[in-house]
Amino acid sequence: LNKQSIVEKITGARRSPAHEHGEAFAPSNIALVKYWGKRNDELNLPVTSSLSISLGNLGTRTAVELIDGSDVILLNGLPVPSDTSFSKRLREYLDLFRPAPGTGYRVTTHNTIPTAAGLASSASGFAALALALDHLHGWQLKPRDLSILARLGSGSASRSVFKGFVEWHAGSADDGMDSFAEPLCAVFPDLMIGLIKISVAEKPVSSRVGMKRTIETSTLYQTWPAQVARDLKSIRRAIETSDFELLGRTAENNALTMHATAIASWPPTLFWLPESVKIMQAIWSWRASGMPVYFTMDAGPNIKLIALRDQVAALSSHLHSIEWIAPFT
Ligand code: PMV
Repeated sequence: LNKQSIVEKITGARRSPAHEHGEAFAPSNIALVKYWGKRNDELNLPVTSSLSISLGNLGTRTAVELIDGSDVILLNGLPVPSDTSFSKRLREYLDLFRPAPGTGYRVTTHNTIPTAAGLASSASGFAALALALDHLHGWQLKPRDLSILARLGSGSASRSVFKGFVEWHAGSADDGMDSFAEPLCAVFPDLMIGLIKISVAEKPVSSRVGMKRTIETSTLYQTWPAQVARDLKSIRRAIETSDFELLGRTAENNALTMHATAIASWPPTLFWLPESVKIMQAIWSWRASGMPVYFTMDAGPNIKLIALRDQVAALSSHLHSIEWIAPFT
């Protein structure tokens, strides 16, 4: 089983472009219960389910068209040199869909999330590309199949196909046809996400490498799946009952546990910088003084605050340069 066989299973023989141009937007997402560890590296099949919040109109807008010759990739108006790892990763993904050898794609992609905000764009990037390819080729795929196609680009992209709260079901099938994301029909209008940029430098260890190393060498990973199962239940309950404290506490503890499993791997995998720890300690002291605020972190040093709308002004007075996002407005 490889990516190509899954793409063929999903798109079948429908290969001629139905439109001259396909275009789509997909939001970035932040996991409240993290995806950390693959059971299949090739197909990006996760060990556990995960649950995220999509970031409204912050994400990636991508247009695609077919051209003769090699691919042309434009990111935020500038051509991406073909020897970069970004371009290589994108072209390998496009290889899965080419109607004929020698056919190229022109991919024009814009991130509406400021690159300086320190948010990875691979999730929204691959989700927008999968949606745009569906439009171009006229496949009219079901949302779950679009989520699977996005997953083949990057695991967390499976969740960026949807708005609001999204759960990615781990599934158990070898071909991953039951490993797709679905939106939860629940809203949390006052929920705010605050991005705190600590560094935008390329991280020394990718999530792919970090996950693999954690699974192979961290004894703490053994308890991770059980923790995720508990956290998913708590987060679902928190969302259903609009229980902000439960949501924040569960998400923060889940993120710290994910990082603990990575720190306990060998070689040690620590994504934090000294500044990340300072901010965590500041958040704990604000909380100790009665302010309801929590955080989460992905495979990098940046911090994402989880807060309520009526706390935004107070938090911004403590720390300037928080980029606020209202996922439900
Ligand atoms: O989709 P990837 O391979 O970039 O992995 C994402 C991993 C985390 O961001 C750390 C967690 C998550 O669920 O998004």
